[in-house]
Amino acid sequence: MLIHRSRWLIVLFMIIVFSGCSTNVTSTPNPFPETVIPLRELADPINFYVGTSVRYRPFVDEPMYTQMIAEHYNLIMPENMMKLDALYPDPDTFTPERADAILAFAEENDIAVRGGPIIWHNALPEWLVDNGMDRDSMLVFMETYINTVVEHFQGRVYAWDVVNEAISPSGSGLRTDSIWMQTLGEDYIALAFQLAHEADPDALLFYSEGGTHFERAKAESTYQLVRGLVEDGVPLDGISLHLHVDARNSFDAEFLYDEMQRYAELGLLIEITEMDVRISRLSGSMEERLNIQAGIYQEALDVCLQITACTTFATWGFTDQHSWIDARFGEDDPLPFDSNYQPKPAYYALVQSLQTASQNQNR
Ligand code: G3I
Repeated sequence: MLIHRSRWLIVLFMIIVFSGCSTNVTSTPNPFPETVIPLRELADPINFYVGTSVRYRPFVDEPMYTQMIAEHYNLIMPENMMKLDALYPDPDTFTPERADAILAFAEENDIAVRGGPIIWHNALPEWLVDNGMDRDSMLVFMETYINTVVEHFQGRVYAWDVVNEAISPSGSGLRTDSIWMQTLGEDYIALAFQLAHEADPDALLFYSEGGTHFERAKAESTYQLVRGLVEDGVPLDGISLHLHVDARNSFDAEFLYDEMQRYAELGLLIEITEMDVRISRLSGSMEERLNIQAGIYQEALDVCLQITACTTFATWGFTDQHSWIDARFGEDDPLPFDSNYQPKPAYYALVQSLQTASQNQNR
């Protein structure tokens, strides 16, 4: 009995100490499930999208994975299943079935879907990379590809990342290691938007770029590209920004605000569509690192919530169990839920920001 009572005292102590900020990365099942507010419950009333990318294997294999998504998110993006290599295993075979399954799940759960990336230098099938197409045959392929994909998903995808990561990593201009650039020249960007708009005039069309939060030259080149597209009357509705952050070298919130603001001044929507925060190379205890991570997530969401044109905050995955980071940078814990699907301080930080925005009714 004494043991039983002291356990409850510990629980009470944890509630007081960690209210609004609990857990560690190797957590046991959450002792306070009632304190986990669905993120979308806070986002829906302020007309805001809170999203995640969806990986196909756990989507199929892990009921907890889909349950968490349905509970917390009002927006999803297939992580890889709408990429060219997934949709076209060979030139004459269109395989949208896995993306269709994710979209059916979204419809059942009243979740909006962003699609893409349509045109990217990466995730290309070998048959396309290897076949040495000239300009004319690439133009024919591009037209067929964009028509087929956008029409197939029409009405189910509210926004597309039409062109993704066209700026070179250093920010020196358009990247040249792109099959689209090599065969079609820089006009491929405007052309892709034109074709996507013709295929679905109701879909919102985004240019999508990563790394502008820490590489100033890239931020500038991206802005110049996007401004040029707007000035040329290209059907472009917004910019989606990827914030793959290393906590050792995060971003300057004021800079991010100014960056978003200048896109808003061009009349564009802004979406944060790929955020994760790597913490494995930070020094300090795990608790300290998780709190730093929470602060970084909160800063990004707060900036977005301050700008009316910023409509979306989405992470690239939501559980540390399934993130592209481990394969690319080594094991890490970059997302708001841990590997056991338990909320981390980052989750509570997002909750706090959404609650503040809805209390201030600043949306
Ligand atoms: O599914 C196969 C598996 O069967 C095979 O055994 C294994 C061997 O390597 O590969 C698996 O496929 C990998 C796939 O991720 C699923 O995990 C591919 O090789 C790998 O290239 C692919 O990487 C994806 C990458 O884009 C390229 O498409 C990442 O998951 C995905 O998170 C990443 O996402 C991009 C965004 O689209 C654009 N912005 C940057 C972001 C991170 O690179």
